[in-house]
Formats: sequence, C-alpha cells, structure tokens
Amino acid sequence: MIRGMIFDLDGVLVDTARFHYLAWKRLAREWFGLDFTPADNERFKGVNREACMRILCEMAGRTLSEEDFARGMALKNDWYVQRVREMTPEDVLPGAADYVRAARAQGVRCAIGSASKNCRLVLERTGIAGLFDAVADGTVVTRAKPDPEVFLCAARMLGLPPADCVVFEDAQAGLDAARAGGMRCCAVGSPADLTGYDWICSGLNALSDTPLAPERLQDTP
Ligand code: BG6
Ligand code: MG
Repeated sequence: MIRGMIFDLDGVLVDTARFHYLAWKRLAREWFGLDFTPADNERFKGVNREACMRILCEMAGRTLSEEDFARGMALKNDWYVQRVREMTPEDVLPGAADYVRAARAQGVRCAIGSASKNCRLVLERTGIAGLFDAVADGTVVTRAKPDPEVFLCAARMLGLPPADCVVFEDAQAGLDAARAGGMRCCAVGSPADLTGYDWICSGLNALSDTPLAPERLQDTP
C-alpha cells in the first residue's frame, strides 16, 4: 500500500527547472562559448550543483582551478536565485498543490526529496512549505542522485519503509535513484526522455485516471 509520497521539487512541484536551465546556459555561453541546448540540460536535471559544474567542464573539454570551479558555481547560483526571489505561488505547477493536499487527505504522508540547496527558499517563495511532513534536500545529504540517499533520508523522516513510498521525478537520475532505493516511481515528463518508471504522467494534474489518483491510493498495492 502507498503510505508515503516523496516529491522532487524542481520540475515536479514548481516551475524552476527552466531557471536552472537558463542559468547553466548563460554560464556555458559566457565562460566556454558553448551553445547549451535543452537536450544537454537533460543530463543536469536532478543532479546537484557540483556534479552539474563537472558535467559542464567535461562538455567544454576544460579543467578549471578549484577557485574558478567554485566561482562558476557561485555565479550560476546567483543568477538562479535572482529568479527564484521573484517567484510567487503562481509558479507552482498546475494541479501540484491540489494533488498533495488530496493525497494527504487520504492519510498519505508527503515529503520533498530534492538535490537543491535552495529548496527552502523555493518552498517559501511559492507558499507550499506547509504541505510537507518532511524535507530532505541538498543541505542534508551529500550524495547526488542517482544515489538513493536523498529519498532514503526522506522515507526515514516520514518513518516509512522505502517499499511503501512512491517517488515523483522529472529527471532520469531521480528515477534511477528511486529504484536504487527500493521505491516505486512516477515519472513526470515524456516517455521520449525518461525510462525505468512504474507510472508516467505529463504533470501532477494528469493523474486522475491512474492508480495514483488520490481516491484510489488505498487500493493500490
Ligand atoms: C535539482 C535540479 O533539483 O537541484 C538540478 O533538478 C539542480 O538541476 C539541483 O542542479 C541543485 O540545485 P541547487 O539549487 O542546489 O543549485
Ligand atoms: Mg527535478
């Protein structure tokens, strides 16, 4: 039975995935003269800041000094945070808050499982912090998805075994992390980009006719 739900933040609950993309795109252009495309960005989704910076250096074929590496990450983060500070509850993705509320009404415990160190800021700006029983984010874990650490931490915070939890993820690294942690997972996105999931939807507003519809959760083994 599904007793817990663990939601990735960026790209599942809130529309921040494009802000990460635009900030990496700017850094790629300004520092390396690279044209960073949405296809390149798939590798950056769900992955923590440091790992993203490593992938970018690899794409550019460049090795940076420790100082420049840190400076690049800080610059990208400043650009990202500038946009996050302008966010409002309108930036919550369609149906996301309602879905979490409906799942909670069915007795399901809900947590965040995000790689981001800006998670709290995003939750506050968008007004959804109060919907979650626990927050596992980039400030409390060290290993990047596809390592399952962040989801195992969230399940532990909820007091539930991984097998009773479903993870919602828009990133391949996150789906791989969920499975590595022994959890079922619902992909949020397109089957063209993602693989290795139990369910898939285009967004949390599109789950009403599936076994993950809140009113069917009690019967979903
Ligand atoms: C994830 C995003 O949620 O958080 C990644 O999908 C991002 O794209 C990662 O790199 C780390 O975020 P932050 O806010 O700590 O730089
Ligand atoms: Mg995501």
